[in-house]
Amino acid sequence: MDNKPILFLDSGIGGIPYCRDFLKRNGMETVYYLADRENFPYGPRKKEEIASILISLTEKLLAKINPKLAVIACNTASVSALSPLRQKFPGLPFVGTVPAIKPAVSACKSGKTGVLGTERTIADIRGLNLETGGCEITGVSAPELVEFVEKRIVSADEKEKKEIVKKYVDLFREQGIDALVLGCTHFLYLIDEFRREAEPQIKIFDSLDGITNRIEFLLNENGGELRAGKDCTHDYKFILTGTQPPDSSWINRAKALGFKLCLIDEL
Ligand code: DGL
Repeated sequence: MDNKPILFLDSGIGGIPYCRDFLKRNGMETVYYLADRENFPYGPRKKEEIASILISLTEKLLAKINPKLAVIACNTASVSALSPLRQKFPGLPFVGTVPAIKPAVSACKSGKTGVLGTERTIADIRGLNLETGGCEITGVSAPELVEFVEKRIVSADEKEKKEIVKKYVDLFREQGIDALVLGCTHFLYLIDEFRREAEPQIKIFDSLDGITNRIEFLLNENGGELRAGKDCTHDYKFILTGTQPPDSSWINRAKALGFKLCLIDEL
């Protein structure tokens, strides 16, 4: 049994849906969520820079909270930093988030699959050697959509959400794509809008189920030695990087999740 926390990490709010999904079935585990607001957004940065941000954050968090497992709930950070992280911290299991291309290409009938992600993810997608099943992969980067979700998802009205999503769906539709992968965790906040706008002609894929299943698999390995025990006390924390006091948007996000908000230096 292991009562240490599981860490979920993203540049901002993108990992929260993953955290929620995991807790639905695994409420006995202690979860800490980290939003690296100080370095948001990751998308325009170089691969080496993202890897170095993630390595120094992990070093700090290992010393402060010593997680039993780290979920990189961010495609950009996963494509750039997962290998260096695994090399540097061999004792800490990592779960990464990569665009769900495999299920998308199996469902794709037109031979054309689309991926929507950040600049970094789209630039690096071919290097991941993901199984494309002979499908042509068209990647589109959408930094504007990342900013929209991070800054405006709560205040934006339905019309604005529909318009911004439609712009991207139309682009893929024009290219004859019939399977579209949301390759950025932030886009999960707009999944209903994507489905309404795209389906049934274009099917939408995300990695939510895959990540929860993978975490559960690792926790259950070796007779569940990484699972929390019945005596586990739950202190869910929402950690922010940077030193500036959290504004009301962070306070509300932590409250909605039921986590206690704190700065990384207060740990
Ligand atoms: N949520 C991140 C992802 O899945 C991207 C956001 C960013 O650019 O920082 O790629």
